[in-house]
Amino acid sequence: MESRNRITRRTLLGAAVSLPAISPALAQAKPKIGVIGAGRIGGTLARHWANAGYRVMISARSLDEVQKLAAEIGHGVTAGTPQQAAAFGDVVLVSVPFGALPQVGKDNAAQLKGKIVLDTCNPYLGRDGEMAKEALEKGTGVVVPTYLPGVRLVRAFNQVSAAALASEAHRSGEKVGVPLAADDKQAMEVAQRLVRDAGFDPVVVGGLSTAKSFDQGAPAYKTLTARELRAILKL
Ligand SMILES: NC(=O)c1ccc[n+]([C@@H]2O[C@H](COP(=O)([O-])OP(=O)(O)OC[C@H]3O[C@@H](n4cnc5c(N)ncnc54)[C@H](OP(=O)(O)O)[C@@H]3O)[C@@H](O)[C@H]2O)c1
Repeated sequence: MESRNRITRRTLLGAAVSLPAISPALAQAKPKIGVIGAGRIGGTLARHWANAGYRVMISARSLDEVQKLAAEIGHGVTAGTPQQAAAFGDVVLVSVPFGALPQVGKDNAAQLKGKIVLDTCNPYLGRDGEMAKEALEKGTGVVVPTYLPGVRLVRAFNQVSAAALASEAHRSGEKVGVPLAADDKQAMEVAQRLVRDAGFDPVVVGGLSTAKSFDQGAPAYKTLTARELRAILKL
């Protein structure tokens, strides 16, 4: 199975690049999730995924805070350092201030290598300085891989407000849409599953370069239904 996956992926990619074979942990319905940055976005998603039956480890620099949050969420959620969460997850959510991404990438490079990483981080000029300017010009999907090299990146959950993320999960009627951009097909499939299981509606926008279309400041950068997102993004 492993070698078949490797060959298929090599064929798709034109033979030169050798990526890891699809891991059995990812093929299963509920991969383990590590969360780096358990604030309004990371903490809320950890809660949604734990409620949905996923095994989750949350982390931040302040271990005290994440230990309290893990106990409050329950469902077996554990707390650790960012490195422990990165090592724990088959999939890792990174949800820290944009300016912290280079450090997170360096500190956790070995643990994150080859993993699917969902990145929610938004560049703000006032908060993140010059690096935000570059990210907004080039697009986060182009710039973030330079901070998190070697991961299977998905831009996800960056344009849903923290309030909607907390209150609108699994709502009846049309669900809130979550646009996704990724170059890796399996990472995109796993991300769609995680969006659905968190209680939202995934909208596949395209490869990482398309993340710019729902970056901070773009018309699609607000809480919308999947139908509204598709109309704005002309999908
Ligand atoms: N708030 C929103 O409505 C919203 C919506 C979509 C996307 N986003 C984006 O998602 C990201 C997270 O937003 P948020 O609102 O959840 O922020 P937040 O509430 O301030 O949470 C940030 C988390 O990151 C941790 N953190 C900070 N620096 C870190 C580092 N170097 N290593 C590990 N953990 C670190 C913080 O804890 P410690 O300080 O203890 O480390 C905290 O747990 C941001 O980039 C934001 O732009 C926000």
